[in-house]
Amino acid sequence: MSLDKQLLILRRPDDWHVHLRDGDMLNTVISASAEHFGRVLVMPNLVPPVITARDATAYRDRIISALRASGQEHRLTPLMTLYLTDNTSPADVVAAASAGVVHAVKLYPQGATTNSASGVSSIQKVMAVLEAMAKHGVRLCIHGEVTDPTVDIFDREAQFIESVLVPLRQRLPELKVVLEHVTTQEGVDYINGGGPNIAGTITPHHLMINRNHMLAGGIRPHYYCLPIVKRECHRLALIEAATSGDEKFFLGTDSAPHVQGAKENACGCAGVFNALSTLSCLATIFEQAGALDRLEAFTSLNGPRYYGLEANSDTVTLVRQDTPVEQVKNLTCGAQSIVCFDPGRPLYWRVAESDNARKP
Ligand code: NCD
Ligand code: ZN
Repeated sequence: MSLDKQLLILRRPDDWHVHLRDGDMLNTVISASAEHFGRVLVMPNLVPPVITARDATAYRDRIISALRASGQEHRLTPLMTLYLTDNTSPADVVAAASAGVVHAVKLYPQGATTNSASGVSSIQKVMAVLEAMAKHGVRLCIHGEVTDPTVDIFDREAQFIESVLVPLRQRLPELKVVLEHVTTQEGVDYINGGGPNIAGTITPHHLMINRNHMLAGGIRPHYYCLPIVKRECHRLALIEAATSGDEKFFLGTDSAPHVQGAKENACGCAGVFNALSTLSCLATIFEQAGALDRLEAFTSLNGPRYYGLEANSDTVTLVRQDTPVEQVKNLTCGAQSIVCFDPGRPLYWRVAESDNARKP
């Protein structure tokens, strides 16, 4: 990587947690990811979910068609995941991973988040699959929140670590786990002390906003996501983890588009669509932390290392400007809009134009 005051050249970043959806929504959002990232780990929470290797291959083909239709077939490589259910077969999971069809399996506790109705009802139900994954080195990505309605929504991640993750990893220490979208000091501490088989992804919005930004002075539905944004002390713990350069932490945007009407609603959906502003947000956070020299580790090196892949060989150029960067506000999806993440404060770094226009 190369860094001077106004220019930052990084190995091309990857996004280790993204929701690309399907159909019109997929066609609308695919360019946003292709614009900046080399590879994306695609979440399987479609309706119905991506459960089998055949589902994953068919979904991958639809993503590639969407990329082709937008003229970006060679810009982005989708890496697929399987959605773990109570009925998933151990042999199918191991076969799909060994064949390279999927790069990870995603565990959603049933009812924890958007489209998680088919998720895992109890860890015991999937123990045989997890044992097979541990034996064969298949990675498990976890949405780490308990779903017990009596547990306060702000405590659900910490509670999950204590009551589910700790016992699971004591039983299967060799299982490779990614605690997705970490949002708490407890999550950071657990990953830091958890040995080489656990890593964590961090989103740009959890680095930019705390729960006051979402709730004080009016409710801002576009900041509502799961796990929910927490207190400022947790945001600061996430910044410390992300900017540390530690190989256990890497970028997963959790970019999760919903149409505007579903967000601005009496019962709004969880999810922040941040793919276009991610790199501007991250450069701002890392600059403020005096850690721009560690941005590349977070965006482009630590993730591939964890997934056993090479870093991308091409680069992305970020330019610092004196005036705030103009962010895209909305994307059009049919008759609806998708509102892009606006952190509510000026960002001074943008991806260079020449880079957006990169050739295959
Ligand atoms: C995600 C979605 O909309 O699919 N929502 C979110 O708030 N992050 C699901 C998820 O990752 O929890
Ligand atoms: Zn997600």
